[in-house]
Amino acid sequence: MKIDILTLFPHMFDGFLNESIVKRAILKGIVSIRVIDFREFSDLPHHMVDDTPYGGGSGMVLRCEPLVNAIESVKTFQSKVLLMCPQGVPFEQKHARELSKETHLVLVCGHYEGFDERIRNYVDMEYSIGDYVLTGGELPSMVISDAVIRLLEGVINPSSHELDSFSNGLLDYPVYTKPYDFRGQKVPDVLVSGDHKKIAEWRLNAALENTKKRRSDLLK
Ligand SMILES: C[S@@+](CC[C@H](N)C(=O)[O-])C[C@H]1O[C@@H](n2cnc3c(N)ncnc32)[C@H](O)[C@@H]1O
Repeated sequence: MKIDILTLFPHMFDGFLNESIVKRAILKGIVSIRVIDFREFSDLPHHMVDDTPYGGGSGMVLRCEPLVNAIESVKTFQSKVLLMCPQGVPFEQKHARELSKETHLVLVCGHYEGFDERIRNYVDMEYSIGDYVLTGGELPSMVISDAVIRLLEGVINPSSHELDSFSNGLLDYPVYTKPYDFRGQKVPDVLVSGDHKKIAEWRLNAALENTKKRRSDLLK
């Protein structure tokens, strides 16, 4: 998979690209990620990318031309262009799964007061990562890339994500590791019984209980 991230703040991605699973996926050649500064696509003096809003009001608005030029410079017939936007579709695991089947994602990071409305005509999908407003689309684009990359074949063992929360409509079951007894809190007996059938049953019930208790909306 190829991912192109269009941003005004490319250095925000330094840690993201150089740590943990994302770094390993890049080194294994499973994903290649380019971080593109769309300021370079502005034809204006000083590579200006924003301007004041028509009709007045506070804040600056991202102009169409640098962003659309940048999108068009990377877009092919295989590309899916995703705009990071608090007004977009709330991003969920099912979207990560769908996007993991694509070959080329272009993630567009807004900034300032937002972007010129006409930019919407150049994207395929708008995603929000939650009902709050961040300074820019950089963190949302990392969130979405991370959620997608970990689902790509060869990145992590499928058994690690197939039972993750939201993958089968439920939250994950509780997990424990050593020590067996931590300050008087013991690991449930079934997990040390060695009976794999019972363990699987316990985990399914625990996942159901967990979902009922924390996110009953998922069971509807
Ligand atoms: C300060 S926000 C602009 C918010 C805009 N004025 C509004 O109220 O919808 C700047 C940029 O950050 C990104 N952003 C902020 N919050 C986001 C969220 N919850 N999900 C996805 N992107 C977000 C978007 O790219 C947005 O254009």
